[in-house]
Amino acid sequence: METVETARPAEAGARSETSRGQASRAARLLGRPFTLGDLTLRNRIAMAAVTRRFSPDGVPGEDVAAYYARRAAGGAGLIVTEGTYVRRDAAAAYDRVPHFHGERALTGWARVAERVHEAGGRIMPQLWHTGVLRTDAGPRPGVLAEGPSGLDLDGCEYGRAMTLDDIDAVVHAFAEAAAAAERIGFDGVELHGAHGYLIDSFLWRTTNARTDAYGGGPASRARFAAEIVAAVRGAVSPGFPVLFRLSQWKTDRYDARIAERPQDLEALLAPLAEAGADAFHASTRRYWLPEFDGSDLNLAGWTKKLTGKPSITVGSIGLDQQFAGAPGRTQRSGVTGIAPLLDRLERDEFDLVAVARALIADPEWPAKALTGRLDEAVPYDAALLSDLV
Ligand SMILES: Cc1cc2nc3c(=O)[nH]c(=O)nc-3n(C[C@H](O)[C@H](O)[C@H](O)COP(=O)(O)O)c2cc1C
Repeated sequence: METVETARPAEAGARSETSRGQASRAARLLGRPFTLGDLTLRNRIAMAAVTRRFSPDGVPGEDVAAYYARRAAGGAGLIVTEGTYVRRDAAAAYDRVPHFHGERALTGWARVAERVHEAGGRIMPQLWHTGVLRTDAGPRPGVLAEGPSGLDLDGCEYGRAMTLDDIDAVVHAFAEAAAAAERIGFDGVELHGAHGYLIDSFLWRTTNARTDAYGGGPASRARFAAEIVAAVRGAVSPGFPVLFRLSQWKTDRYDARIAERPQDLEALLAPLAEAGADAFHASTRRYWLPEFDGSDLNLAGWTKKLTGKPSITVGSIGLDQQFAGAPGRTQRSGVTGIAPLLDRLERDEFDLVAVARALIADPEWPAKALTGRLDEAVPYDAALLSDLV
């Protein structure tokens, strides 16, 4: 676990943001609608994907629907669901994570989307293949983990290297899931290209040692992701938004980087923008940290600048204890203000802000943020993860 925490920027605490000026500033900046393709969001606040494992046999039930609907009723403009598996045996790593294939799971998901819509929100599934983070402890024991080169996140031999047929099958699985998302009433999709999972493991040199067209320089390492984006784009209507989530950090490897310099990031992301990604969700643990030397821009800021596409920021928004990594590791966190976040939003550094733990703690966090009442927000406690509240 990481022990070094980086100091937050000086900011007004939650309480002083209750002043009328702060409230109207939050309403003005966060309360603006945002349009992405055919989708218009009522505000700039998104719920980030949070794996909850409350879907027995991969089927999300009425409790899952109510859980997301509560966050929509609490004001979130966009809900990105927990990661949900595409149709591929090796995609799954953990039990009780919802699938995004098969009639029962899709019927459950259709109900989730319906409930979120009734509550005034919009919703996208986060489509997921766990890659080399899969172990035999979860579903389908005996199915080998798969990745670009049969290497784990330390670069040690693990699982198996995907063949060209495997690559085609996985690309197809993502496209099939995206088509299903549109068919059953979702408002877009987010592709999980972050945290060391399958798509990200192609982007990262440590896990991708391929010598064919899918390995080598950044543009080649981006090929698999770009093929998925293109196939997804082709499987849905032109105005149906396709988001791509990326990160430098990997699960339990917080210093990992896919791009050391802006030009490396540009080389990785340009093919994805070209293939039809509508926006990028840049996963960082602390939104205020500059990504590269010589600029204050965070990863979402650089992503927007380099691709010309809208971006989403995330990472310790509204919390005084920063995201320490794996689910639940940050045990408790008090509430803090969002003045520095609003400063960045005002400068158009990014377009949307995503919130995970603060929204687990308090489904009404968006409404409170929009009206300058964050001093009333419920503090985060990892114990909350044991129930679907
Ligand atoms: C319990 C838990 C589960 C998570 N599951 C996912 C996931 O399924 N997919 C994903 O991309 N990120 C996942 N994340 C990361 C969050 O989306 C988010 O990036 C991170 O929590 C930082 O945001 P926060 O500081 O607002 O919590 C998870 C985080 C937590 C705490």
